[in-house]
Amino acid sequence: MTDLTNDIKETKEIKDKSKDSQAKLEQIVAYDEQFYLPVFGKRVPLVVDHGRNVYLYGTDGKKYMDMIGGIAVNTLGHNNGRLTRAIASQARKVIHCCNYYYNEPQTLLAKKLVEKSFADKVFFANSGAEANEGAIKLARGYWYHKGTPKPKIITATMSFHGRTMATIAATGQEKFRAPFGPNVPGFDYVPYNDINALKAACDSETGAVMLELIQGESGVHPADFDYVQAVRKFCTENKILLIIDEVQTGVGRTGTFFAYEQYGIQPDILTLAKGLAGGVPIGAVLANKMASSGFVPGDHGSTFGGNPLACAAGLAVIEEIESKNLLANVNNVSAYLQKKLANVAKKTHKIAEVRGKGFLLGIELDSGSSYDVKMKLFEKGFLVSSIGSNVIRIAPPLILSRFQAIKFVSALQDVLQGKE
Ligand SMILES: Cc1ncc(COP(=O)(O)O)c(C=O)c1O
Repeated sequence: MTDLTNDIKETKEIKDKSKDSQAKLEQIVAYDEQFYLPVFGKRVPLVVDHGRNVYLYGTDGKKYMDMIGGIAVNTLGHNNGRLTRAIASQARKVIHCCNYYYNEPQTLLAKKLVEKSFADKVFFANSGAEANEGAIKLARGYWYHKGTPKPKIITATMSFHGRTMATIAATGQEKFRAPFGPNVPGFDYVPYNDINALKAACDSETGAVMLELIQGESGVHPADFDYVQAVRKFCTENKILLIIDEVQTGVGRTGTFFAYEQYGIQPDILTLAKGLAGGVPIGAVLANKMASSGFVPGDHGSTFGGNPLACAAGLAVIEEIESKNLLANVNNVSAYLQKKLANVAKKTHKIAEVRGKGFLLGIELDSGSSYDVKMKLFEKGFLVSSIGSNVIRIAPPLILSRFQAIKFVSALQDVLQGKE
């Protein structure tokens, strides 16, 4: 029995049984404050116990509709049969073997991603930041191995590419970099959706441009269609690699398997993570034939990356998306959700704008604090994220139904109208 379980057992003995779940919450919060590095600040007062479909259940027995899906991770919701069976059956076979050897799920997932995309080659990592690290290295390696190093990479202001040293340097937000200098050199930032600024920033040292197609972490801001087309054209004409970060937008989230499909372009390098294995940590770098030459044996690697467990989960996620036609569900329910949110905006005058694509939507409030709205929704049994001071972000599982969507919309309307 662990210390935590012991302590809770003792707590149970002294407290009234009906107060047990509150005691557990207080115990966990106290432990968190004592033992966990304080990077998350004060969290939402929920101790997650288990999940099913689009719902999470707290240790208090309360049910919450998970409209944030682990921040765009729980592609299939919680406790999906195909995914849990795939994980359990792979765990019974082998969880990890190092990359000295081949493993079938790794090869099959790489093959599947190549078949579904522009890419010729895939590399697996363990997170979005790590996938982006791989992409940055691949781009620099490409120019190095050609004999003409071009280390400079242009990214967008207000972008987010991760929390590691190279990815905070790639992230166009000073607040993520400032405490951790000296920062990795070689990154320049230009305003998003401004092709002239991007062109002006590129020079003979520029080896790559790296962009999100929807800036998720800074408030759900989609790239303009014409901008992305112009960036692709400019990069091709000037032999600059185009890296698209689909860590948040990939794996069906925007209504197509990859968001780039909606922009009529193909990147040279693309990264995936969050939704790819439905909650099992994974990251992926996809590259076309030309960019793939940026790595030669020994240039890159990962102990855990491409392990059979994560890759079996990734295969199950893609099989479920395909066999249940979840992209059609995303498009159908998203259109419905956006229509209903537009009605709420009209009725309440409290919503300035709803942005995004598919199941990655930002609801910008006209007035009031998005943190307060998030907490009121939580009290009503709905989980969302609040970005900055005035944006509510939703990124629900791709299985969300119309019925579930309307429940969320009416709860939001009640909160905005101040109804208990
Ligand atoms: C676009 C984008 N890139 C990279 C990352 C970093 O991913 P991870 O937290 O898995 O390292 C995120 C995370 O929010 C993201 O949204």
